[in-house]
Amino acid sequence: MTVVPSDHFINIEDVFFSYPQSNLLALDGASLSVKRSEFACILGPSGCGKSTLLNILSGLFVPSKGRVTIDGDVVFNDGQMASGKLPRIGYVFQDDRLLPWRSVRQNIELALKSAAIPKSEWDGLVEHFLGLCGIGQYADTWPGNLSGGQRKRAAIARAMAIDPTSLLMDEPFSTLDEVNARFLRRELLELWQKTKQTILFVTHSVREAVYLADTIYIMTKGPGKVMERLTIDVARPRQYEDPRLTEIEGSIISSVLNYWGYYEPTAVQG
Ligand SMILES: Nc1ncnc2c1ncn2[C@@H]1O[C@H](COP(=O)(O)OP(=O)(O)O)[C@@H](O)[C@H]1O
Ligand SMILES: [Mg+2]
Repeated sequence: MTVVPSDHFINIEDVFFSYPQSNLLALDGASLSVKRSEFACILGPSGCGKSTLLNILSGLFVPSKGRVTIDGDVVFNDGQMASGKLPRIGYVFQDDRLLPWRSVRQNIELALKSAAIPKSEWDGLVEHFLGLCGIGQYADTWPGNLSGGQRKRAAIARAMAIDPTSLLMDEPFSTLDEVNARFLRRELLELWQKTKQTILFVTHSVREAVYLADTIYIMTKGPGKVMERLTIDVARPRQYEDPRLTEIEGSIISSVLNYWGYYEPTAVQG
């Protein structure tokens, strides 16, 4: 198993998780760590436990074994929640999860309310983060009247507006068309350069991970553990089509074929 530094902003150390309903082991001793202000990606095949890992970090699930620390505070230790208070984390889901009966502004206000941010700050925060995400003019629009890309921007603005310790992103662009996804990836990097928030981004796309990340953690197929930690040493701003990224993508693909369950079909004889 890969050795990860344990003095980072987010540390996940040898975490196990089984779903109680099915007794299914989803995480089998996963370890990774993310530095403050780093852009880290978790790269793994469908069903390997990526979303489970993010749900643990957001406090939704308690791991059955292992340790999680965020910003020096132990959050989970050996099957227990160690601190009463969870850090404030921004979460961008695969589907945007905007409430359709509330405007974009009202959706963000709901998150600000849950984060106990004083009402006097709401207008300024909504304006600032919608502007930063390039959809300032849609504050009072219903989510149903926005395009997929605009809804995604609104979901990112909502996650960033609560002043989170870190941002968890679960395959946020996988439902968009490729052209829109590329715009949003580039915009996300620009936003990150401005805010320097710590980002943990989950994807099954090797190219997306290579383009976005400082560090990539590659998981096995489920039950998941982290097999490799890679540093992407390509200067920013990066070009999506940079041949150096293509080269790194190729070497990752050949190294993951074994532990993502690839098999070579045998030719039919005769
Ligand atoms: N609520 C649940 N109850 C039982 N099993 C689940 C639940 N959610 C996910 N699983 C299972 O746990 C494993 C990991 O799921 P998940 O973390 O969603 O994977 P990924 O995000 O990498 O696609 C899968 O085998 C999945 O079927
Ligand atoms: Mg998932």
